[in-house]
Amino acid sequence: MAKKIILGEEEVPRQWYNVLPDLPKPLPPPIDPSTKEPIKPEILERVFAKELIKQEVSQDRWIDIPEEVLEVYRIWRPTPLIRATNLEKHLKTPAKIYYKYEGVSPPGSHKPNTAVAQAYYNMKQGIERLTTETGAGQWGSALSFAGSLFDLSIAVYMVKVSYEQKPYRKSLMQTWGADVIASPSNRTSFGKRVLESDPENPGSLGIAISEAIEDAVTHENTRYTLGSVLNHVLLHQTIQGLETKKQFESIDEYPDIVAGCVGGGSSFSGLMFPFYYDKVKGKAPKDTKFVATEPTACPTLTKGIYTYDFGDTARMTPLLPMYSLGCDFMPAPIHAGGLRYHGDAPALCLLAKEGVVDAVAFDQVSVFDAAVTFARTEGFVPAPEPSHTIRYVIDEALRCKETGEEKVIVFNLCGHGCFDMHAYDEYFGGKLPRWEYPEDKIKESIEKLQKELPWIKELPYLG
Ligand SMILES: Cc1ncc(COP(=O)(O)O)c(C=O)c1O
Repeated sequence: MAKKIILGEEEVPRQWYNVLPDLPKPLPPPIDPSTKEPIKPEILERVFAKELIKQEVSQDRWIDIPEEVLEVYRIWRPTPLIRATNLEKHLKTPAKIYYKYEGVSPPGSHKPNTAVAQAYYNMKQGIERLTTETGAGQWGSALSFAGSLFDLSIAVYMVKVSYEQKPYRKSLMQTWGADVIASPSNRTSFGKRVLESDPENPGSLGIAISEAIEDAVTHENTRYTLGSVLNHVLLHQTIQGLETKKQFESIDEYPDIVAGCVGGGSSFSGLMFPFYYDKVKGKAPKDTKFVATEPTACPTLTKGIYTYDFGDTARMTPLLPMYSLGCDFMPAPIHAGGLRYHGDAPALCLLAKEGVVDAVAFDQVSVFDAAVTFARTEGFVPAPEPSHTIRYVIDEALRCKETGEEKVIVFNLCGHGCFDMHAYDEYFGGKLPRWEYPEDKIKESIEKLQKELPWIKELPYLG
């Protein structure tokens, strides 16, 4: 039995998979709050590269990966699919546990799968500078890496609490030439407003997104990029699931469960959508279960409300159809910085609403218990984000031990935790609190939005 299932470089898929034509219902459109109508794609051209907007609304099922992007992918792709044999033995489970390891990329996560593509399309359009936000620092690192390859200037607004918790993430981004700014900052008028009313504000992804968009639209030849949530990001991430399917085919195996963590939904969707495609096309040999994991401190899929909401705190984005905790959500400073976002990808939310995807939430202490078990058996130190999935996988494997089921489980270990040692330190020092976000605050926040914009409830798209 092979420990690692490895593809040859020539086996890297040459097309991404677009889930939009295969969703159980048409995806409700993003709404322009000024017209209350679906947004016209041209309006987004001041914010995003044209090709990315085209991909955002494309109904083509398969989209070619440009040769220049494939060439960069080959630095670390294909990534290994690894059987967690030591973890299985430790748990004494009959379950077979596999993980797709995306931590082998230069920035250490799945994020460059889309960062490279986004930087490439912007470069092709003649754009010279990109802005973005980063929570955990993984997305900012990925865009900084991609920017350096395509000769683009990169400005990263990094959520202040992460900027302080992870100084070496900042150094990594600077090594690739990026300008890293703690958010909220004095660089934008929105950041200044936040700091005036609350000088100690620790920041949030919602605030950092607002600052990065404002920076992009107020500077020449600059565009904004997003590391999750949008359709084109999920599209680029399907390279993970497409490779994983080939890897399973090569050992004549197929998963009973596909699991992943969800911050905005790109890593999990990237792994899961190609397996969902099999199901839709009647090609799946099993009734595979899809399981999303998230923190109890930011329980978007498990406790959020399915509604139209803004993607950022300053309400600069279109309204997106998603499970949301409210765009003014201020997350607790948990260490899974990449999972602190108030919403999730609309395509993934639709699948959750339709019952295709299940979701479970865990508190960060139980998550770090699982992360340490994994590190002590499989060796890799996982990032806090995928450790939520490791918690789920361990629990499921223990359930299989009770029932004797030989379930095949696959999850994406979408990032290593080598820049997260501060979090591990706090865990070993017994200093990690178990946060749980109160349900009444979610209702309060969404009701506030619906009171301010009562027409949201009348929109005909959510079904
Ligand atoms: C390692 C890692 N995993 C997961 C996430 C969450 O994002 P997404 O749900 O889009 O994969 C992040 C976000 O920063 C991350 O850094």
